[in-house]
Amino acid sequence: AQSLRALAQRHGLYIGTAVDMDALADPADPRYRELAGSEFSTVTAENAMKWESLEPTRGTYNWGPADELVEFARQHGQRVRGHVLVWHNQLPAWLTEGVADGSIDKAELRRILRDHVTAVVRHFKGRIWQWDVVNEAVSDPWDTPSTLHYKGFWAEHLGPGYIADAFRWARAADPKALLFYNDYNIEAFGSGNPADDKTQFVYEMARDLRARGVPIDGVGSQGHLGTQYGNYDTLQVAAALRRFAGLGLATAFTEVDVRSQLTPGVQAGDSAEINPRLQASAANFSTLLRACLAERHCLSFTLWGFTDRHSWVPDWFENPPEGLATAYDEDYRPKRAYQEMKADLIFS
Ligand code: G3I
Repeated sequence: AQSLRALAQRHGLYIGTAVDMDALADPADPRYRELAGSEFSTVTAENAMKWESLEPTRGTYNWGPADELVEFARQHGQRVRGHVLVWHNQLPAWLTEGVADGSIDKAELRRILRDHVTAVVRHFKGRIWQWDVVNEAVSDPWDTPSTLHYKGFWAEHLGPGYIADAFRWARAADPKALLFYNDYNIEAFGSGNPADDKTQFVYEMARDLRARGVPIDGVGSQGHLGTQYGNYDTLQVAAALRRFAGLGLATAFTEVDVRSQLTPGVQAGDSAEINPRLQASAANFSTLLRACLAERHCLSFTLWGFTDRHSWVPDWFENPPEGLATAYDEDYRPKRAYQEMKADLIFS
């Protein structure tokens, strides 16, 4: 049977996965490595390129796992999405504590950010296809205050100007990498979901950055969906992509998974419980993929992990428990989502 990557190639689309470096290196789990190499044409480090991983101690970089992924990609003819340069999560303690105790002031914080972006982009220069330069900078409609705003550590300490700065520093360090803004809840437009407002906010942000000549090349739509929420349709998703494209930007789905709530205590093998969720999950994967296939500037479609054996969802959503978010089950059996994506790639 043909792989997802072979089928996607006929469309000029790259199909990807986030990679858990511990799983990739585990000799007791060889199937993970096999499928990561054979089914996908682009890879993203799930955690290995985040600041706390790369610079756990100030001034001492630990490139090992991230370099391993880049080498894995080279061996398998894959492109790499770099994730992530500027984010408010998974920052090293020396940085957040230094700001909290006042030993790092605003001017120094800005220099630290500039040096980090420069050092990381330079280190991987020529080997990263798309960089997530800034991640999740915008609040959600259900946050407080509900008026959409720039949120998180960087906006609080530097003001929103850090966004343009980060893109400029990244461009200077590797002029050929495509520079992305990446976020969630911007998957659709015109759905009536309150997330429409966030899609619009990010659209206006991107328009403003473009108008000011800030070097942004694309917008990444994460695609963390859940079957318990209202489902988008393909036209609403395509509409969001097309509006970004109208600004002269590339787009990509960068972190797709579709989780489900599980009734506590229900066995994994209970098909009456599981099957409707698997079907709903597959339908959502398909909605995003078909929209991406319909839009020429949608460069890549990356899954946030490909197997329920290694997925952030059960760790993150415990009460009520959620899971079943990926395309393969815990024993690497392809699920309905996998078949559905294949069908989309064959028949689109
Ligand atoms: O590194 C420690 C390890 O030493 C320890 O043994 C282990 C025990 O829990 O924890 C490890 O750290 C965890 C890390 O993943 C690596 O497994 C953290 O606790 C855990 O919080 C972290 O979660 C990651 C999460 O980002 C944190 O922000 C998930 O794996 C990762 O999938 C998730 O990815 C994000 C994207 O970067 C941005 N968009 C949303 C997406 C999902 O949250």
